[in-house]
Amino acid sequence: MITPVLLCGGSGTRLWPLSRKSYPKQFAALIGDSTLFQASAARLSGPDFAAPMVLTNSDFRFIVTEQLAEVGVDPAAILIEPAGRNTAPAVLAAALWLQKSDPEALMLVAPSDHVVPDAAAFRAAVLAGVPAARAGQLVTFGIKPTHAETGYGYLELAEDPGDFAARPLALNRFVEKPDAARAAEMLTAGNYLWNAGIFLFSVATIIAAFRAHAPDLVDPVQAAVDQGQPDLGFLRLAPEPWAQVDDISIDYAVMERADNLSVVPYAAGWSDLGGWDAVWRETGPDERGVATAGNATALDCDDTLLRSEDDALEVVGIGLRNIIAVAMPDAVLVADVSRAQDVKLAVAALKAKQ
Ligand code: GDD
Ligand code: MG
Repeated sequence: MITPVLLCGGSGTRLWPLSRKSYPKQFAALIGDSTLFQASAARLSGPDFAAPMVLTNSDFRFIVTEQLAEVGVDPAAILIEPAGRNTAPAVLAAALWLQKSDPEALMLVAPSDHVVPDAAAFRAAVLAGVPAARAGQLVTFGIKPTHAETGYGYLELAEDPGDFAARPLALNRFVEKPDAARAAEMLTAGNYLWNAGIFLFSVATIIAAFRAHAPDLVDPVQAAVDQGQPDLGFLRLAPEPWAQVDDISIDYAVMERADNLSVVPYAAGWSDLGGWDAVWRETGPDERGVATAGNATALDCDDTLLRSEDDALEVVGIGLRNIIAVAMPDAVLVADVSRAQDVKLAVAALKAKQ
């Protein structure tokens, strides 16, 4: 059995105005009828999976329980971080909690804000990684890169991925978020995959990796788990030791430093919805490149995304080219598709105005 560990403490700003600090994108139905978080929980269920653990913060705790209940998922535990410390402490806390009942348990760490359209293919890839994880490897999942993205980790392959069949391959190294020049080099070199941000390992392997590569995290996170307070079905990690914990991602804390890395190549579709341009692609644009969602109508438009998140608000576009328009009850975004990444600048500008 594999225990899914769902991370949902982040608050993406690139999908403003839909994604907000108090209600980030993982809890919204961005693609299809269920939310990204619900789809992530549902994707990792079935005979090979135990009940999931969820790592989140106090603000999101009731959204988490409500959304899990809606899809009939009963979590094994919901750990509440007193403050966001990025993914390394969250994953370590999950591992230390699981260690109490089963030190040999396998954990599948997954973000809750990705789109993975083929759930069966994804589960098959996870199962393909199990022998490597049992053998003490930190298993990653690798996506064929299409551009010199600087927002992802890169996986340097030690062997040719061939036909991209789902089987674990050895990795030379993990490079987290390179600068633009390095990303371009890795794209041209051809022996790199993008890190999907999804990991499979045993509890014992990941705790040993933290001890080796990020030893300062271990004692305070262990204390935060041991002194955690049960509260209405949640476990609140203890704030005092948690305040001593460094803010660092698992990619920098462990993956870049480890040498027991494997990758399962994955080619059945994956997006981390890193901007409205990605949502537009995943919404299934028609032959003219037009995608609409909610109360939205496009007349004679090309390469355009129109969305209304308000039942009482109709959005109509006429003759538009390369436009993203997203209407919420209290805010409207209109942007050129090529400027999708600048939405985070708008959020910063709005914050500065407050
Ligand atoms: N519980 C919890 N606590 N979750 C968190 C926290 C935290 O403090 N910080 C982030 N998360 C969650 C986010 O909500 C998201 O689901 C996941 O952890 C990953 O965090 P991101 O902040 O989205 O990471 P990233 O996108 O910059 O980079 C990671 O994902 C890329 C692929 O999308 C890395 O793993 C990259 O290497 C990878 O390419
Ligand atoms: Mg992300």
